Amino acid sequence: MAASFTKSTARNIFYGGSLFFVLVFLAMTFQTERTISKYDNSANLTPAAIRGKKLWEVNNCGGCHTLLGEGAYFAPELGNVYTRRGPAFIKMWIMSRPTNEQWLKARAASPVHTHRRQMPNFNLNEQQVDDLVEFLKYTNGINSGNWPPNKEG
Ligand code: HEC
Repeated sequence: MAASFTKSTARNIFYGGSLFFVLVFLAMTFQTERTISKYDNSANLTPAAIRGKKLWEVNNCGGCHTLLGEGAYFAPELGNVYTRRGPAFIKMWIMSRPTNEQWLKARAASPVHTHRRQMPNFNLNEQQVDDLVEFLKYTNGINSGNWPPNKEG
């Protein structure tokens, strides 16, 4: 039995195996090239969205929120908040906390805001809040394969 495993058998396994995986690699490259445009969200990656991402980081929004599942589980998922609440709500929410009348009304009307957790006031100016909204618009446009499955995050 051992004698039938010749040098040429070993060589054939080597060449055959290599060829097989080169073909798998080429097929996967082809498949990626064909589908990548479906995931292209770069039109939403404006300079404002880039500034907004920076603000997201320096203010550690991810210390409480998840963004497409990444971050902490203290506060709502924000990957889809742009469609869930809309830009005007997001802006009002970040700017006018925590005692503003409009904010208290919005909070009372919203089903997820019935718990005692609160978000701090970051004292951001209007431009910064607009940039954050642009960033959340960008994340909202990322093709995440319908994740999160539940609209409320
Ligand atoms: C200390 C924790 C904490 C940090 C940091 C934080 N948030 Fe929040 N955020 C919350 C909590 C808690 C809520 C929900 C409050 C409620 O239900 O009343 C919330 C709600 C929100 C909402 C409304 C979500 C919805 O579904 O209605 C937005 C938008 C938001 N935060 C944006 C941000 C942004 C942008 C940052 C960074 C600048 C940030 N948050 C940082 C705790 C935090």
